[in-house]
Amino acid sequence: MTTIALGLPQRRRDPAQAPPIDGRPDLAGLIDRFGRVARDLRVSVTETCSLRCTYCMPEQGLPAIARDELLTAPEIARLVGLAVRELGIREVRFTGGEPLMRADLGEIVGLSRQAAPDAELALTTNGIGLDKRLPALLAAGLDRVNISLDTVNPQHFARLTRRDRLDAVIAGIEAAHEAGIAPLKLNAVMMRETLADAPELLAWAVARDARLRFIEQMPLDADRAWAREHMVTAAELLAVLGERFGLVEAGRHDPSAPAEEWLVDGGPATVGIIASVTRSFCQACDRTRITAEGTVRSCLFGDDETDLRVLLRGGASDAELAERWRAAMWNKQAGHGISLPDFAPPSRSMGAIGG
Ligand code: 5AD
Ligand code: SF4
Repeated sequence: MTTIALGLPQRRRDPAQAPPIDGRPDLAGLIDRFGRVARDLRVSVTETCSLRCTYCMPEQGLPAIARDELLTAPEIARLVGLAVRELGIREVRFTGGEPLMRADLGEIVGLSRQAAPDAELALTTNGIGLDKRLPALLAAGLDRVNISLDTVNPQHFARLTRRDRLDAVIAGIEAAHEAGIAPLKLNAVMMRETLADAPELLAWAVARDARLRFIEQMPLDADRAWAREHMVTAAELLAVLGERFGLVEAGRHDPSAPAEEWLVDGGPATVGIIASVTRSFCQACDRTRITAEGTVRSCLFGDDETDLRVLLRGGASDAELAERWRAAMWNKQAGHGISLPDFAPPSRSMGAIGG
């Protein structure tokens, strides 16, 4: 019997067991039951972080993963290589937690570059320490960087991230700008506590030629404080930005790009808005994820995971790894189901999945 999860997390399955592949056509790519194809891989390299953003981490941080449970740099690179060669992945993004917390991030990038010479390699980071590490990462083959910044008000930043580190983040952003990373992309999660700061943040980004994107907060916080009634919607943010800027809708960069773009004061500057909750783009989702412990997660919101680490360490061939990954993605759920009455958030929080 098959269960097609219509937007609801599936029952937990032993991640070491192969997921069902009933009815799957024999195609190389990461296709699912709903006709989507994953081409974008997010690899979480750690669950630890230098910040404690309230929408992500608990105050005390996440429990540390034992070192031997984390994928090593060569293991990550092997998965990246086979994803690109055999599974149709085109873009790989290293995320966390905070990827810069790993001392061997340069090795992860360098080995991944060797394993996948033509893939786009990108990094999502909170920017802390990026100024010191960026040259080595670029030399290792990194192509692009996204930096998270929710407000340029130091007090509000400290309250939201539970750390007084705005200066360190700004140093990282400036280093990326000076290194010629263009377009420099910034991500901000829309929070009620920082909503009034949004116009200032946008002006700050525009002045630095950075492309800012606001993201609706999803129920992925470890504290389980998210509430539909409390979240800031894209419509509300647009109203606040519209008091200071002239905004003209400019569509999406491409259909699977989650951000809708708006021209700021006639352009060329733009601002992106990712309405992950109120205008979900699950039907166009092209992502597949690997957690820091080496499980495939087909969806941020699906608790159903497939363990590749056990195969990697058990001497599996690339073909066996690819087959298990295909089966995991075949079972991807239709969507996050946040607006359904019986929605339950996933058991892992954002820091433990990888943004
Ligand atoms: N909702 C939306 N985005 C989130 N991020 C972290 N937690 C959430 C959440 N609950 C974003 C961060 C960062 C990326 C890693 O994921 O802002 O840009
Ligand atoms: Fe760290 Fe990013 Fe989570 Fe903030 S959102 S606590 S920077 S992993």
